[in-house]
Amino acid sequence: MKFFIDTANLNDIKEANDLGILDGVTTNPSLMAKEGITGQQKILDHYVAICNIVDGPVSAEVIATDLEGMIREGEALASLHKNIVVKIPMIPEGIKAIKYFSQKGIKTNCTLIFSAGQALLAAKAGATYISPFLGRLDDVSTNGLDLIAQIRTIYDNYTFDTQILAASVRHPMHIIHCAEIGSDVMTGPLSAIKALAKHPLTDIGLQQFLADHAKGNN
Ligand code: G3P
Repeated sequence: MKFFIDTANLNDIKEANDLGILDGVTTNPSLMAKEGITGQQKILDHYVAICNIVDGPVSAEVIATDLEGMIREGEALASLHKNIVVKIPMIPEGIKAIKYFSQKGIKTNCTLIFSAGQALLAAKAGATYISPFLGRLDDVSTNGLDLIAQIRTIYDNYTFDTQILAASVRHPMHIIHCAEIGSDVMTGPLSAIKALAKHPLTDIGLQQFLADHAKGNN
C-alpha cells in the first residue's frame, strides 16, 4: 500500500519524507488555507515547493466547477511539475474533465467520493485515483471502511486500473484496515502515520535492553 500524507504543511511533509516511507502528497483548498497559503501565485508556488520535497504524486485541486474552468486550471496545475495529479470533484462536470484529462495522459484524482456509484463513474471516466473520504463517512455514522471494501470488489470485478486512495484517514487503525481491505493508497495526517510505529512494549523492551547493556558495560 502506498502512503501519501494529507497536508500542505511543509514541515510535516519533510518529516514524513525523511522517514523514507512516503510515496506522495495530497492537499485540498482547506489544507492550503490552514497553512495561510492564499492567492493564486502563492498556491502554485506552494505546490512546486511540495514537489521539490517529495518525489511522488502530488494532488493539486481545481477550484472551478465548470468544465472549461476545470480544464484551464487543471492544465495550468499539470504544467507546474511532472508529479502533479489534478484533483477534481465528483460532479457531472468533473466526470467530463476526468475523461478529458485521461485522454490527454494527465493524471487525475477524483475527490469527494462517498458512494460506490461515484467510484464506478470516476473509474469509467479514466481517473488515476479516486478518494473515498472514510473519516467523513464515519462522522455521519456510516462505516467508511465498508465503502472502501465495496469499491475494491467492484474494481477487481472489472480490473479497473483506477487506484483506490483512501482519504480522510484519521488514525492508525484506519490505515491498518485499509491495508487489510487492499486499498491501493492511503492518505492521512503525519500523526496517524507516526502512530503506526508506537507500541508501549517496544518502548519498555528497548529501555530494558539499554539498561541491561549499561549494567554489563559498567
Ligand atoms: O484531502 C481530503 C481528505 O483527506 C480530508 O480529510 O480529515 O478533512 O475529512 P478530513
